[in-house]
Formats: sequence, C-alpha cells, structure tokens
Amino acid sequence: MSLAESWDRYAVGSKPRRSVNARGETTWLNWTQYADHGPDESVLGPVAGRRVLELGSGSGSNLAHLVMLGATGQGVDIAPARETVARARWGSLPGLEFRTAEAAAFLGETDETFDVVLSVFGAVWFVDPDTLLPLIRSRMAPGGILAFSHLPPGSQGPKPARAGLRHDHTPDEWTRILAGHGFSGVSVSLIDPPEGKAVGTMLVRALAA
Ligand SMILES: C[S@@+](CC[C@H](N)C(=O)[O-])C[C@H]1O[C@@H](n2cnc3c(N)ncnc32)[C@H](O)[C@@H]1O
Repeated sequence: MSLAESWDRYAVGSKPRRSVNARGETTWLNWTQYADHGPDESVLGPVAGRRVLELGSGSGSNLAHLVMLGATGQGVDIAPARETVARARWGSLPGLEFRTAEAAAFLGETDETFDVVLSVFGAVWFVDPDTLLPLIRSRMAPGGILAFSHLPPGSQGPKPARAGLRHDHTPDEWTRILAGHGFSGVSVSLIDPPEGKAVGTMLVRALAA
C-alpha cells in the first residue's frame, strides 16, 4: 500500500468537525486534538492579506478559518479523500484551494512564496525535518511564520500502517533542528490537556528570518 493509500484509509475513519463550536463560531482554528481547547489563530499573528499554506490540511477547516479572516489559503494533503471532503465543505470560499500532493513534493515544485505555513498534526510531524524544513524555508517570505503542532514525544497517536515514523521532538531538539535550517525566534510550548485527559499538545513556532 502506498503512503497516499494509507492516509486515505486513515481519512475514512476521521470524524468530520462539528459545524459550530462551543462559542457559537462556524469556523475556528484548533491546534490540539480536543474540541474547544488550546490557543487560537493569534499564534500566527494577523493573517488578513497573507498567503497561507497548510501541510496536511485534512478536512480544510483550520485553513478555511484563516481564509474567513482575510487570508488566501493553499491546502496540501497527500490523501485524495481529504481533498474531496475539503472541497465539498469549503470549495465555495473564495481564496481557498486544496491540492492532493505529498508535502515535500509540492514544495519542491511550487514557485509560490508563503507568509504563513502551518501544520496541525500534519505533514511536519510525518516527514523527516531535514528533508521538509529546507523546502518550507525556501518557499517562505522573509519574516514569515511557521507553526505546527503534534503530540508530545512518546505519546500514542495516529500512525496508519506503513505511514512511517512520526517526527516528534523535544523542545530542545526542535529549537536546534529549526535553527539549523535557518529559522529564528523558535518557541516551543506544551499545551496542557483538558481536565480528565492525560496527553497535551506540543506547539512549535518559528520565523523565516
Ligand atoms: C492526523 S491528520 C491531521 C489532519 C488535519 N491537519 C487536522 O488537524 O484535522 C494528518 C494529515 O496529514 C496528511 N499527511 C500525512 N503525511 C503527509 C505528507 N507527507 N504530505 C501531505 N500530507 C500528509 C494526512 O493525509 C492527514 O490528512
């Protein structure tokens, strides 16, 4: 089974996001695996007028939120089923596009430049950072923001058959790896889980400067 097929199978088991959150909002950004939990899009700074790329965009709901706030968005996901679902839900939103592609392959081919790159439990977690980070860096505008989340190292999480390693690192490791690929101002935070849950979320932010 190919990587795309593995992730397509995983997509079938994913629950669609609710249409309204606890605050009554119809779009929102969720960096964690828990509903109504964790920081919002302010992690990315102002997004209006910015070109945003999401790597491993899934059902497209996080990216759609940023586009609702005035960004233009490109979502990339390796699983064809993800593009179908994302287009069905968000396809009518101007300034938002979805593409089926492997993240590193997309970055190697595109001639676009992005102000913001995000990945929520997405491709940055699943592709060797020594492969992916130079490609991300090469497509980012000076001063652009890269932000991504994943489970803290050692936790259980999504790992479809043959999908390969997860690249979850400690804060010190991410700081070293990102600095080594030309990113600055690296900050890594551990978001506590909600009450009654054991596993938190690691949130990493860095500047292409
Ligand atoms: C755990 S899901 C998270 C989806 C979404 N970001 C969310 O928060 O709901 C991981 C996503 O990354 C995609 N993915 C994994 N490896 C990828 C790669 N190398 N290139 C592009 N997408 C990838 C998968 O197909 C899947 O949609």
